Amino acid sequence: MAENWQTVDDYIAEKLLGSDPALEAALSANAAAGLPPIDVSAPAGRMLSLFARMLGAKRILEVGTLGGYSTICFARALPEGGRIVTLEIDPHHAEVARSNLAAAGVADAVEIRVGPAIASLDAMRAQGEARFDLVFIDADKQSNADYVRAALDLTRPSAAIIVDNVVRNGKVIDPASNDAMVQGTRRLYDYLAQETRLDATAIQTVGSKGWDGFVLALVKG
Ligand code: SAH
Ligand code: DHB
Ligand code: MG
Repeated sequence: MAENWQTVDDYIAEKLLGSDPALEAALSANAAAGLPPIDVSAPAGRMLSLFARMLGAKRILEVGTLGGYSTICFARALPEGGRIVTLEIDPHHAEVARSNLAAAGVADAVEIRVGPAIASLDAMRAQGEARFDLVFIDADKQSNADYVRAALDLTRPSAAIIVDNVVRNGKVIDPASNDAMVQGTRRLYDYLAQETRLDATAIQTVGSKGWDGFVLALVKG
């Protein structure tokens, strides 16, 4: 990673985000609990929060909770009575997230569902879960196409679907990659290319997490 990317992210965070004790405490608790440091960056977390406010999102679905850093960013963007449902396969991650969300004062707005996300999404579809305004997909990259397909059944028209980590240091353009995450991301692009119910783009990013990017898709209609 170019070392400037980290320094510029620090500058942006200092100028525009200020100190954020709840998010900083969540990162410390994650590290103490041995969680991998793969949360969204502070500037990206603010962006997710702003996206939620742009949409006026009242119901948000997240796939991949980790310690709840991005969950806190979304929860803060919700209006009174709003809700975020976040899916996590690892009970230890979910436990750490529960504690971080409580410490951040947003636990009441968040529901963590523990289990493989595909199973949770299937159950939500079967049980007629109320529609979501925004979906953030940030779990196992192998399943990204399946997650977007499932999200289409759970969102309202004009909902936004955001998928993290879709550039992976540029590795995404290598059709011969033996990295399962890269192959999963390539399947996501193939899926999006033929999915007529979505308008989608992908934006490359650099920063404290290196060179990566996200997909932004809007549900038509
Ligand atoms: N959104 C978080 C980071 C998520 S990291 C943040 O920015 O703060 C990815 C998470 O997805 C990890 O906690 C991992 O355990 C979880 N995950 C991986 N595979 C999963 C699956 N099949 N179902 C649900 N969660 C999964
Ligand atoms: C990984 C996962 C992420 O969600 C991320 O933002 C960065 C890295 C990973 O599994 O390597
Ligand atoms: Mg990610």
